[in-house]
Amino acid sequence: QQERTFIALKPDAVQRNLVGEVIRRFEAKGFKLVGLKLVKPSVETAEEHYAEHKGKGFYKGLVDFITSGPVVAMVWQGKGVVASARKLIGATNPLTSEPGTIRGDLAVDVGRNVIHGSDSTDSAQREISLWFKEGEIADWTPVS
Ligand code: CMP
Repeated sequence: QQERTFIALKPDAVQRNLVGEVIRRFEAKGFKLVGLKLVKPSVETAEEHYAEHKGKGFYKGLVDFITSGPVVAMVWQGKGVVASARKLIGATNPLTSEPGTIRGDLAVDVGRNVIHGSDSTDSAQREISLWFKEGEIADWTPVS
C-alpha cells in the first residue's frame, strides 16, 4: 500500500468556500483521494487530534475553533504524500508561508490557516485511525 496522509479542511475553509480550490490542488498534483467526509468534530476527537499542543496558550482556542463547524476530513494517497502535502500546504503561519502554497495564497491568520496536514507518517497513521473507520477508506485503481 502506498503512503497515506490525513488532511483536514478546517471550518474557515468550508465557510470561505475554499473546499474545491484546495481539493483541486491535491488532484492536480497527482495524489489519489481515498477518503472524504464532512464532519463536525467532537471535542474528544479534537483534543485527541491536537494532544501534542495541550498546555500551549492557543490550545483551547484551537479546539474551540476546529469544533465550531464542519471540517472536511480526507485521506490522500501517493508516493511521498506526507512530505509533499506539507509543501503544498506551506508554513503554519500564513504570513510566512510562501506564495504558491495553500496557506501562502489563501490565509493570513495562524488560527485560521485553512488546512491541517499530518507532519509524519506516524502522525498520519494515528490521525487517519482517529478520524476514519476502516470501511470509510476506499483504495481504487483506474479502469483501463
Ligand atoms: P495545524 O497544522 O492544524 O496544527 C496545529 C495548529 O495550531 C496549527 O495548524 C495552527 O492552526 C494552530 N496554531 C499554531 N500556533 C498558533 C498560535 N500561535 N496561535 C493560534 N493557533 C496556532
